[in-house]
Amino acid sequence: MTPERRPLVAANWKMNKTTAEAHEFLGEFLPGVEDVADALDVVVCPPFTALQTVVERTREAPVRVGAQNMHEEDAGAFTGEVSVPMLLELGVEAVILGHSERRQHFAESDAALARKVPRALAAGLVPILCVGETEDEREAEETERKLRQQVQADLAAVDVGQLADVVIAYEPIWAIGTGKTATPDQAQAAIGFVRALVGDRDAGAAQAVRILYGGSVDPSNAAELLGLPDIDGALVGGASLHADRFLAIAAAARA
Ligand code: PGA
Repeated sequence: MTPERRPLVAANWKMNKTTAEAHEFLGEFLPGVEDVADALDVVVCPPFTALQTVVERTREAPVRVGAQNMHEEDAGAFTGEVSVPMLLELGVEAVILGHSERRQHFAESDAALARKVPRALAAGLVPILCVGETEDEREAEETERKLRQQVQADLAAVDVGQLADVVIAYEPIWAIGTGKTATPDQAQAAIGFVRALVGDRDAGAAQAVRILYGGSVDPSNAAELLGLPDIDGALVGGASLHADRFLAIAAAARA
């Protein structure tokens, strides 16, 4: 982390928590979040059905609420999808885009992401764009090729002036939900590479853009990973379902 970039920790609840369970989480989380959020941005991304509850309960708290996906069209015949105006109406301020689970199980494509990222930015939503390689790609030494392809394609239509408003999450797919984390060297190298890719577009944006690490972050490894120079925070899945564990990660990001 560098002083110019404010750290950010985001909770990705995935398909977890009913609204009742979200209430329960917030009962434990909100008293503690004040202590950490002075020096970092905290984002919670519940499933669509809990967005309204979480927005309402966090109105007075230093917490921003994000969705886990969106469609780039404002309205239309897209059964099962949710649009930007629908999210804005609820008070949502961020959106995870291109999570590997959406790429893998729901055919999310770079072409769609190239439309979604600028659409989110135009609406004032903070896009948290996920990129990362599979285990096979890492073993075949194709990590950089994959990251280059994703970063270049997904940000292709973003104006240089808005590049620094994107948050990028480097999430090696083999580390998601597996308990395996990238080593500090692997995480720093990949994130440094992603920053350099942004630098190919604009040197100033590369310095300013926040790049998170994601993949089995928990309170025991957060301090080491988040202490690395190019890592500006974390996108947290499993550990973010527990208020105490997510708060401990946020505290590590702040240190
Ligand atoms: P994990 O998930 O922390 O459970 O590995 C991270 C993510 O998928 O964003």
